Amino acid sequence: MKPIKVGLLGIGTVGSGTFNVLKRNQEEITRRAGRSIEIAMVADLNIERARELTNGVAEVVNDANLVVNNPDIDIVIELIGGYGIAKDLVLKAIANGKHVVTANKALLATHGNEIFKAAQEKGVMVAFEAAVAGGIPIIKALREGLTANRIQWIAGIINGTTNFILSEMRDKGLDFGAVLKQAQALGYAEADPTFDIEGVDAAHKATIMASIAYGIPMQFDKAYVEGITKLEASDIRYAEDLGYRIKLLGITKRTPEGIELRVHPTLIPEKRLIANVEGAMNAVLVQGDAVGATLYYGKGAGAEPTASAVIADLVDITRLATADPEHRVPHLAFQPAAISDLPILPMAEIVTSYYLRMHVEDKPGVLADVTRILADLSISIDAMLQKEPGEGETRTDIIILTHQTKEKNIIAAIEKIEALATVTGSVIKLRLEELS
Ligand code: HSE
Repeated sequence: MKPIKVGLLGIGTVGSGTFNVLKRNQEEITRRAGRSIEIAMVADLNIERARELTNGVAEVVNDANLVVNNPDIDIVIELIGGYGIAKDLVLKAIANGKHVVTANKALLATHGNEIFKAAQEKGVMVAFEAAVAGGIPIIKALREGLTANRIQWIAGIINGTTNFILSEMRDKGLDFGAVLKQAQALGYAEADPTFDIEGVDAAHKATIMASIAYGIPMQFDKAYVEGITKLEASDIRYAEDLGYRIKLLGITKRTPEGIELRVHPTLIPEKRLIANVEGAMNAVLVQGDAVGATLYYGKGAGAEPTASAVIADLVDITRLATADPEHRVPHLAFQPAAISDLPILPMAEIVTSYYLRMHVEDKPGVLADVTRILADLSISIDAMLQKEPGEGETRTDIIILTHQTKEKNIIAAIEKIEALATVTGSVIKLRLEELS
């Protein structure tokens, strides 16, 4: 059978990884796909580097339009990133009847609905395994392996940069700023790490997972996004004293009222496997009603781990290219006509447990005032920690862990606690998930 022809848009880290793995494992991949898969064309602005990397095997151009408009190309791999030119090229490729593979979570989380609609109308596939958790086949697991289940919740460490920073903060007792500088010097964090450290990258990925877990449209604009920039070393230490680790989690939960979709630093019990995922590794925990909890762990970034996901998509498309579009796995795991309008809940309505840290005067009645405020709002205390005041000091930190409550109750409680004359400054609030 004639080879399937692929056009690659962008031959940076992941693009060159894809090129190399396809070449190295060509025979094995052909045995799996049933046809050989050839990168026939590469578009990159750095044409010299692209030529060097492809070594005469593929046609190299600097205009990506030449790839998406070439009638000989069956599949376009988009590895440009962002939502500007990448969106135009993906839509053009679809309009030209080409299947698309993309690692672009930002594009899918923000414009996925439009892209999938266009693909459905054209009868082509848009595959995106590499968009979430790099080499971990989490899209495949959610969309196919767990298809019998009503997915109840997903919680994932889906950003390696922030997990690396949090691991370093815990190991070395350093504050966020110091570790970020170190991570940048070592090349672990981007020169502009905003999307990573502010939680945006994780929220893109959580949005995609929520969509395929519950069969809802992509709704990044409704996701709650909080990064790790304000996290203090003392909170990591106090959490540790109470038996918890702090991780930046992407969380999505099904509730009777709607879907929770949120990214924020989260305390999790240190005995959970996912609490022990360190460095730049990723892990996703999925709770299904039939299977129970399943955990997926691996490299969430890097040339060959991400190429592993890109090529899995290429093989899938190669196998299914001749199948009737109606009989393929739907883009969002559910049939397009069965996409649900379950609402994404506003943050005030989400339910979770909380870690509260407050700086108080160490004198009789202070704790009673705080606990009365919590009791009046029906917030139950799970654990408490009070530090000895330092030498010659009259103020100290109190840390309270609460049982589950609605976020709006905690916000009301914090407002009242901060108004107490014995409490100095702001109350630090972190969310806590038992993940049991
Ligand atoms: N920047 C991401 C991370 C990898 O740090 O995990 C690509 O999604």
